[in-house]
Amino acid sequence: MMLLPHLKLSAAAVALTATATIVKASSFENNLAYNSPSRRHPSLAVPLAHIYKRQTGDLFTPNELSFTHGVASGDPYDTSVILWTRLAPTTENVASDLVPGGIVPIYSDPEAAQPSSKAACVEFQISTSKTFDTVVDSGRAYTTSDVDYTVKFEAANLQPFTVYYYRFNVCDASKVSSVGRLRTLPEKGKKVGRNVKLAVYSCSNYPEGYFNAYGNAVRKDTIDWWIHLGDYIYEYKDSDVRTALPDRETYTLYDYRKRHATYRTDPDLLNIHSAFAGIFTWDDHEVADNSWKNGSLNSEGEVFQKRKQAAVRAYFEWMPIRQVDMDDSLRIWRSFAVGDLFDLFMLDTRQYNRDLTVLNGIAGIGGNSKEVEKLVDLQNRTIMGFNQEEWFYKGLRESKAKWKLVGSQVIFSRMTLGNLLGNQAINRDQWDGYLANRDRVYETLEGGKINNTVFLAGDSHAAWVSDLAWLGKREYDENTGKGAFGVELAGSAVSSASVLTGYVPRFISDGVSGLLIKANPELQWQDLFYRGYFEIEVGYGELKGEFWGVKDLKKRNGEEKLLARFLVRDGENKLARNPSVGGGVAYAGALKGGKVE
Ligand SMILES: *[C@@H]1O[C@H](CO)[C@@H](O)[C@H](O)[C@H]1NC(C)=O
Ligand SMILES: *[C@@H]1O[C@H](CO)[C@@H](O)[C@H](O)[C@H]1NC(C)=O
Ligand SMILES: *[C@@H]1O[C@H](CO)[C@@H](O)[C@H](O)[C@H]1NC(C)=O
Repeated sequence: MMLLPHLKLSAAAVALTATATIVKASSFENNLAYNSPSRRHPSLAVPLAHIYKRQTGDLFTPNELSFTHGVASGDPYDTSVILWTRLAPTTENVASDLVPGGIVPIYSDPEAAQPSSKAACVEFQISTSKTFDTVVDSGRAYTTSDVDYTVKFEAANLQPFTVYYYRFNVCDASKVSSVGRLRTLPEKGKKVGRNVKLAVYSCSNYPEGYFNAYGNAVRKDTIDWWIHLGDYIYEYKDSDVRTALPDRETYTLYDYRKRHATYRTDPDLLNIHSAFAGIFTWDDHEVADNSWKNGSLNSEGEVFQKRKQAAVRAYFEWMPIRQVDMDDSLRIWRSFAVGDLFDLFMLDTRQYNRDLTVLNGIAGIGGNSKEVEKLVDLQNRTIMGFNQEEWFYKGLRESKAKWKLVGSQVIFSRMTLGNLLGNQAINRDQWDGYLANRDRVYETLEGGKINNTVFLAGDSHAAWVSDLAWLGKREYDENTGKGAFGVELAGSAVSSASVLTGYVPRFISDGVSGLLIKANPELQWQDLFYRGYFEIEVGYGELKGEFWGVKDLKKRNGEEKLLARFLVRDGENKLARNPSVGGGVAYAGALKGGKVE
């Protein structure tokens, strides 16, 4: 349904004078959710000017409010971090007039919360002590229905590489949120005193199962931060182990808000958010399946653009993520300096400026994949967009850190079925569909003699560990790794099924993995069977990767299995062989030159 424009609401608000509390503009600005996704782009802006007109609007009382979806932190820097919560008069999400009216169905959402002229006042505190004996930073802001009652603060004045606790409260009241914990990054450019550890996730599909993979990182409590490479939510209508609300494919702002809120009821997702600061980027499903700059599988043109606006806005409301450049509204690509140990480049290979992708069909067969086959060699084709490419290459060249970690949604390495399909790339929706862009990355690595580059990737719902080999352009020896430019660690999904999982027994799945490692020289380990995640431990002398498989997604549990371990030594730019990759043994899938137990 169409909702009253904010201007009309403000007239009602002006009438409420008796107990009115003056709401200052700056107090709205402290809530970074109003940047969602951009104040500078009128078509994307939350109408702050209209909200200011409600300066005489009254406040919700503490009794009316609750912290509905836990607490979260993200985008840690060495002295600051983003803190998130939601303080609302309802667990329901707010309906909005930002719907692609007349283009897609305008759903009637009887359950949706209606916009309100009242504001909720919220404060945060951050401290090195669990009991908040000394508060290092604090702040106060308002939130309103305009941003679905979400709250995002930047906490500052923090010490590097230090554990902090944070909480929120209703202003001047005793109602408090749960307590969250986080660690800041080490001081930019400085030596880091110990190895650091991160868990890397992708593809968490709520209907397909419980997020046990998130819970395992909390139960073990050995990581410093977590990374999500995208497909944090899915837009489909789906009801399997659980139902994704709203029970339809998402198009409107309400839909995306409700979808995020539904995901944020999984206990293990709530726990990982409150236990560690996360670093996030999106893939296609945060907007729509197989999206590119001008459409997706199920939407194009204006419908797609409106849908994307709604999706992006809900994403910035719900995720503890910074907006690095307000000039460039949909930019999410950004980097993090972890002392002088590593720089982390979080790419957007999906939504920012990707040229036409394969919407359906594989290996040149079906859908629009024939059309894309004709484009893959174009020099002006890009998966990142040229602004982002320029930023990335400059960042790689100028990095003084020991390691360069690259968070890419989709897999960078080539993926074929070998002679079976004439070495044809299987999936042009990955870097395999953007060959010139991939060549430019290799040219940058070679030209700058850049060492210690490690790609981290997701999207495929399977695990792939490869040397970065510039096949067809530079010599590469798959046995020794000689000629490689670095390493790629690509992880399986938190819960999304792979093409084989759930359909075939493990011996068949492992057989297919065996075929894949034979077909692709640079591919050293592959597994299609397990859902899971991987951890990386980064030190000056070496980087270690450990892949974990989770078993039963039908109920919440903490079971997991080590699938394989890998080592990359400083300066070697390839997976270490001892005697072969992975120490010669893995516990799932297929391992080149080694055995699977
Ligand atoms: C993007 O979509 C619009 C509407 O469908 C179309 O007019 C335009 O040509 C498309 N642009 C590209 C680059 O495909
Ligand atoms: C890319 O290059 C091709 C071939 O040179 C050309 O036909 C096409 O118009 C170019 N596209 C853009 C967006 O410049
Ligand atoms: C990378 O390592 C090689 C071999 O040790 C060295 O020659 C080169 O200078 C290094 N690159 C940079 C940018 O330091």
